[in-house]
Amino acid sequence: MNPREAEKRIQELRTTLEHHNYRYYVLDAPEISDHEYDLLFRELKDLEEQFPQFQNPDSPTRRVGAQPVDKFGQLRHTVPMLSLDNVFSNDEFDQFVERANRFLGREGFYDFVGEPKLDGLGVELVYENGVFTVGSTRGDGSVGEDVTQNLRTIRSIPLHLFEDTCAAPKRIEVRGEVIMNKKDFLSLNTLREEQGEPVFSNPRNAAAGSLRQLDPRITAQRNLDIILYAAGSYEGIEFKTHTGMLEHFRAWGLKTNPQNKLLKSREAVFEYFVSLDTLRDSLPYECDGVVFKINQLSLQRSLGEVSRNPRWAIAYKFKPRSAVTRVIDIVPQVGRTGILTPVALLEPVNIGGARIQRSTLHNQDEIDKKDVRIGDTVVVERAGDVIPDVVSVVRDRRTGKEKPFRMPEKCPVCGSRVEKLDDEVFYRCINISCPAQVKERIRHFAMKGAMDIEGLGEKWIGTFVDNRIIGDVSSLYSLTEQDIVSIDRMGDVLARKLIDAIRKSRDAQLDRFLFALGILHVGEHIARTLAMNFKDIGDIEKAQDEELRNIEGIGPGIAESIHDFFHTKENQDLLKKLKAYLRLNNPYEKAVSGHLKGKRFVFTGGLAGLSRDQAKQMVEENGGSVTESVSKKVDYVVAGDQPGSKLDKAHALGLSVLSEDQFMKLVRG
Ligand code: IVH
Repeated sequence: MNPREAEKRIQELRTTLEHHNYRYYVLDAPEISDHEYDLLFRELKDLEEQFPQFQNPDSPTRRVGAQPVDKFGQLRHTVPMLSLDNVFSNDEFDQFVERANRFLGREGFYDFVGEPKLDGLGVELVYENGVFTVGSTRGDGSVGEDVTQNLRTIRSIPLHLFEDTCAAPKRIEVRGEVIMNKKDFLSLNTLREEQGEPVFSNPRNAAAGSLRQLDPRITAQRNLDIILYAAGSYEGIEFKTHTGMLEHFRAWGLKTNPQNKLLKSREAVFEYFVSLDTLRDSLPYECDGVVFKINQLSLQRSLGEVSRNPRWAIAYKFKPRSAVTRVIDIVPQVGRTGILTPVALLEPVNIGGARIQRSTLHNQDEIDKKDVRIGDTVVVERAGDVIPDVVSVVRDRRTGKEKPFRMPEKCPVCGSRVEKLDDEVFYRCINISCPAQVKERIRHFAMKGAMDIEGLGEKWIGTFVDNRIIGDVSSLYSLTEQDIVSIDRMGDVLARKLIDAIRKSRDAQLDRFLFALGILHVGEHIARTLAMNFKDIGDIEKAQDEELRNIEGIGPGIAESIHDFFHTKENQDLLKKLKAYLRLNNPYEKAVSGHLKGKRFVFTGGLAGLSRDQAKQMVEENGGSVTESVSKKVDYVVAGDQPGSKLDKAHALGLSVLSEDQFMKLVRG
């Protein structure tokens, strides 16, 4: 065969194989036998080897996985990947609809699309002129990991969009869930058990673990699947409805969920929920509820989002599932603030496809209330991916040999005194140098979303603390390769990587650093609020209780905890040491001194030139805030097209009302 003929045949084979891939993996309706497929595949592989000049990363033969990488690159999502708020009853669903109505100043119901809520890993795929170019995990919603090479191995992801009935757009970011089907999960675990490897606790962890492999060849062996359900940004195409968008997805060969359904009434919504709950066990994948999305995209845009959750979609969760098992033992676990949490060690039991062998008992009060004893037979419930919960004791199964559990008087880890404050339910180990606390504080400091020190997980932290190589988080920064290289199973490559990762974390965002400190009640959200209100760490250290309490979103309890933290001698010493190593930057600095500082805005009606989210961002970047309801505390009400009742209320209260133009002028300063 000459090169010209070879090129032509290679093209033909690629198109044919992609078509059969699609029939098999997307539609689940193959047209040829596996054997026939293998023959075509082998023919293509041979030709590509014979004529390497025609090799191409988009070829179906490349689905076996590219070369391993050291670490994943980061990719910023052009549109943040949101999460979903949950409801658990019809009443709560009704309230969700009412909130949307109130926000838009309208009444009635919406056309919804019901979709199974898949229990996998959210990802984004970018197609440029119909070609799959990059793909990433959801990550923290703003920045994800570049897992392009791993995604390429997933057979249900088309490497090219089909254009038979509908041209591919210039660029589109499609979003969906990478999942592992139940049967593949079970066979993977069986294999791992045979090979003496740890099993995955549920299909979601298996999917995440498989997709986040540094070696794509391993991912390729894992039988991952994908279902697409949303879009990020796109160019060269317009959609009016969610269903319309999903139709385009299907025409392009992207896999969507056949269970998705357009629902035009409240009754239809609830019926769909019940029918899916009934179907749940027969579905090939894990699903823990239903996502309901308002079908009209223009309405979605007007509704926008609130604290990373869309106002136009909600997850209605199924009732948790339960199983009966036995409590083998109850052991107290020491957390980062010294709190002892009793954990039940259970006889392993399967709940909804996950193997459960531990369950939190929360605290002594809860144990007493439920009267859980060591040796008891108990009912354990699991809701989605949350930690399983012991809900009750099966009393008839008591033999009399069960032993009640008492919190120890001494810390099981360091032997120090355990103390219970009168007004708290918690028992605490009073020794702040307790190795268990130290380890947990360091783990929290290093975790993703905090200082994000890659590779520094529980295992190494444990070893470092036990060997007195580190004592607190600041000592991480004086570590050298020599200090750790001789540790069992470390080696010089890993040692270098770890030290590099620690060094890299020296350039940190103020908000992440504040979160990393592990101040009681300061999660990621409060940490960000602080960074939006103070120029730098020095100003936060100096802040008085009163000043903190005046910040929207920070109540008295949180303010006190922040104030106490920065006025404790040990913490001050630690901060002094840390500041010598770190270069903190505040990405929200502009907000602190912005000309809209302290101003509160409400929007009503549609804006012509920008989306609600963009408008909100502009306000926040300049130090202002946006709230939903009109009250005396509001400084400006921005009235767009067809404003709702909020405008009347604004007039009644005598607030300043701005047109879109006036708003733009004000923001620009
Ligand atoms: S839509 C804009 N649709 O659930 C709202 N998400 O809790 C989010 N998920 O991060 C995307 N099934 O990973 C959407 N049918 C579905 C989904 C779904 C599962 C995941 C997704 C998201 C998480 C939010």
